[in-house]
Amino acid sequence: MQDLQEKTALVTGVANKRSIAFAIAERLAHFGVKLAIAYQPLENKDAEKKLRKLTEDIGPALLLPLDVSQPESVEGLFDTLKKEFGRVDILVHSIATALREELAGRPSDVSLEGYLLAQQVSAYSLIELTRRARPLMEGGGSIIALTFIGSQRTTPNYNVMGSAKAALEANMRYLAMELGPEKIRVNAVSAGPIRTLSASGIKDFLDLLHTAEEKSALKRNITTGEVANTVAFLASDLSSGITGQTLFVDGGFNIWG
Ligand SMILES: NC(=O)c1ccc[n+]([C@@H]2O[C@H](COP(=O)([O-])OP(=O)(O)OC[C@H]3O[C@@H](n4cnc5c(N)ncnc54)[C@H](O)[C@@H]3O)[C@@H](O)[C@H]2O)c1
Repeated sequence: MQDLQEKTALVTGVANKRSIAFAIAERLAHFGVKLAIAYQPLENKDAEKKLRKLTEDIGPALLLPLDVSQPESVEGLFDTLKKEFGRVDILVHSIATALREELAGRPSDVSLEGYLLAQQVSAYSLIELTRRARPLMEGGGSIIALTFIGSQRTTPNYNVMGSAKAALEANMRYLAMELGPEKIRVNAVSAGPIRTLSASGIKDFLDLLHTAEEKSALKRNITTGEVANTVAFLASDLSSGITGQTLFVDGGFNIWG
C-alpha cells in the first residue's frame, strides 16, 4: 500500500488499547500515514496521560480532543488540523454512544432523548465530520465509518443503536453519491462483535460473541487487526473503484440464516 505513505489521516474514537480505532491508527501508521488521533475529552487527567502514552507508542501523531456533540469542539479540531496538516486524505469515523438503559430495555420504551443522543453522536456526526473534512480533501479522499449488523437485523440489546447504525449507513451512501464527483469515496466497515469499552455497554455481549463464533462461516470471532486491515485497504488506492459500500469483516456471520 505504497500510496498510503504520502497520506494524512484523522482517526476518531480512540479510547484505549482495545478500541477498534487504536488498531486502525496502528495499522495506518505502519503503512506510513501521517496521523491525527481524536479522543473524547476525559475529566480524569491520569486517563488522558495514559492515552497520550499509548498513542506515543504508535509513533508521532497529533492527539486532539473531540466531542462531536459540541459543534465548537469539531470546529476547533479542524482549525488545528488545517493549520498543522493543511489537508486530510483519510477520515475514520469510529464513534458511537447510547444510554445503557436504552440498549437493554424494550425497543418500544426508547425515549426521544436517548434516541436523539444515539443519532447525533453515532450517525449525524459522520455528516458533520465529512462537511468539515471536505475542504481539506481537495483532489480526493477516503472516508470510512464503523458499523454493525444490528443496523439490518435485530440483535438482542442493540435496540436504539440499531436505528443509529441504519442511519449511519444511509448517510454513508448519500455522502458517497454527493462526493463521488470530487473523488472522495465513502464506505463503511461492518465489524463482527469485539470486546471493547463500547461493547461492554451491551447486555449479554458474551452471548453475542459466542453466537458469532458458532454461526459464522469461519467459526471464530474476528480481531481489531482484521478490521484495521480492511480500513487500510479502503483508505488506499487499491480500493479506488469502491464507494457507498458496507464491507463485512465478520468471518461471514452475516450470511448465516
Ligand atoms: N466492538 C464491537 O463489537 C463493534 C462492532 C461493530 C462496530 N463497532 C463500532 O466501532 C466503533 C468503535 O467502537 P469500539 O468498539 O472500538 O469501542 P470504543 O469504546 O473503544 O470506541 C467508541 C469511541 O466513541 C467515542 N465517543 C463516544 N461519544 C463521543 C463523542 N460525543 N465525541 C467524540 N467521541 C465519542 C468514545 O470516546 C470511544 O473512543 C463504534 O462506531 C462501534 O459502534 C463496534
